[in-house]
Amino acid sequence: MKKKMVSFKELGLSNTKKMFAVAQDKKFAVPGYNINNLEQLQAIIMGCGESESPVIIQISQGARDYANQTMLRYLAQGGVEMAKEQGFDIPIALHLDHGNSFDLCKSCIDNGFSSVMYDGSHLDYEENIKVTRKVVEYAASRDVSVEAELGVLAGIEEHVKSDVHKYTDPDQVEDFVNRTGCDSLAIAIGTSHGAYKFKVEKSEDIPELRFDILQEVRKRLGNFPIVLHGSSSVLKEYVDIINQNGGQLEKAFGIPEEQLRKATQFGVSKINIDTDGRLVVTAIVRKILTANPKEFDPRKYLGPARDELKKLIILKNKNVLGSSGQARYIK
Ligand code: G3H
Ligand code: 13P
Ligand code: ZN
Repeated sequence: MKKKMVSFKELGLSNTKKMFAVAQDKKFAVPGYNINNLEQLQAIIMGCGESESPVIIQISQGARDYANQTMLRYLAQGGVEMAKEQGFDIPIALHLDHGNSFDLCKSCIDNGFSSVMYDGSHLDYEENIKVTRKVVEYAASRDVSVEAELGVLAGIEEHVKSDVHKYTDPDQVEDFVNRTGCDSLAIAIGTSHGAYKFKVEKSEDIPELRFDILQEVRKRLGNFPIVLHGSSSVLKEYVDIINQNGGQLEKAFGIPEEQLRKATQFGVSKINIDTDGRLVVTAIVRKILTANPKEFDPRKYLGPARDELKKLIILKNKNVLGSSGQARYIK
């Protein structure tokens, strides 16, 4: 059966254009939070709603495989309705994270996503431009935003894998943005995906991100939205709870929050966070099940995990991204 095309506008979603314009102006970052299930979405809507933050809900290819793209789109639509019902007036974008082909981006655009990332960072430069441009042209006809990537983040995702960083070359960014027409650009300045971002023994040894590259990119692009992937902070508090309750996360370190705050001051307009949410949920579930071995009602452990995730989101929006209270300026 042929699927009916649906525009994000019919679903009450927003693209990222106005969000980024205001973020540029007011020097904050819009959160890109990943979801795979209902509880994560509820925590994000409640957390961003209560903190009056715009939000980009991100669906990875792994999430699509896990929960089904159509299901996730309806879930996001439900999130928009729930936000309204709660009296929250916040812009919500539904975004494909790390799309690896034109067809996948097209399928998301046709099915109500308001933003897509085409991640051609693993391709050679000209090929990355070619496919990104094709996605931009298709997306433009539907007013959908496109994020592109230049430079490679070390770390592992399900579909994009690299052992080493390849920092973004500032000499390429202007040409890349002009020729692709993308709406935002993800750059590599030392962040990476997952819970093991640095090979260090203690947090004091975590190196600085390459702010020199960020500043150089900024100089070349002017007021253009820059995105940081791999920006979880891997909070010790939750890693400790996991390890105290049977987990084995050794030497897990993330990007210190003060470095992320600095990045927003240097013009980063979107910060992607997935791992921190996973750690919170795992910490609470482990803690509750360890203390209550007879429990078997998922609501009894997923509910508190969801509440803790909401708290984390409120704190991130306020103290790290600076996105709290900004929704009212995005009209
Ligand atoms: O950047 C990637 C996100 O953390 C998604 O990860 O591919 O395991 O869903 P995933
Ligand atoms: P983290 O693994 O640091 O949360 O990064 C998530 C991300 O970049 C999603 O695209
Ligand atoms: Zn990413």
